[in-house]
Amino acid sequence: MASKVYECISKIADIIIENKDFLTELDREIGDADHGINMARGYTEALGQLPQDESDIGAVLKKAGMVLLSKVGGASGPLYGTAYMKAAKAAAGKTELTVQDGKDILDAIIGGIKQRGKAERGEKTMLDAIIPGYEAYCAAADAGKDLAECLDAMCAAAAEGVEYTKTIIATKGRASYLGERSIGHQDPGATSSLLTMEAIRDWVRAL
Ligand SMILES: Nc1ncnc2c1ncn2[C@@H]1O[C@H](COP(=O)(O)OP(=O)(O)OP(=O)(O)O)[C@@H](O)[C@H]1O
Ligand SMILES: [Mg+2]
Repeated sequence: MASKVYECISKIADIIIENKDFLTELDREIGDADHGINMARGYTEALGQLPQDESDIGAVLKKAGMVLLSKVGGASGPLYGTAYMKAAKAAAGKTELTVQDGKDILDAIIGGIKQRGKAERGEKTMLDAIIPGYEAYCAAADAGKDLAECLDAMCAAAAEGVEYTKTIIATKGRASYLGERSIGHQDPGATSSLLTMEAIRDWVRAL
């Protein structure tokens, strides 16, 4: 029987693969039209390689990170790969996740992406979805909300973050070559991060 963590990652993969053309079109506007292709390739490869019956959440996340790091080129492969590797470390040995674990995982992911991408919030990247998502998750957690409610808060804030990326100039990656012309376009990586967070939320809600 497939483990819960494999099922969750396969839901993320489904959503990313369904949105392959959408993500690629966003990247055509401000990048090189490969974001959806990169992400779909990475998840297709990961699904083929992930252990389906492993219940250690950290072990499965680590494998996913290794696949993304090794199989996906460009900026997003190493960045998402790093995110999964950092999440794996925070979830090592766990077979269930608490609200606090979610905080720790998001914190580790943000630290990893910042370090790997040398990026900060406000540069029109995936961090502009993930950091507000993390902050809203923490606020909900501190208010005593349950995991599904924290994930709802995270997704709502991340969606606002994606909208915000339309209003700012890209200063990282290929989109930065456009300067002011990047305004008006939503960031592809922020969008794939939002889709990932929504897939996790929907999966938890359906449990
Ligand atoms: N230094 C960075 N830090 C964080 N995120 C980044 C960085 N550079 C790019 N990104 C994210 O990666 C997304 C682009 O991913 P893609 O799969 O298209 O790789 P790419 O074409 O190599 O990227 P790029 O041309 O932007 O370097 C961007 O939309 C942005 O969210
Ligand atoms: Mg690209």
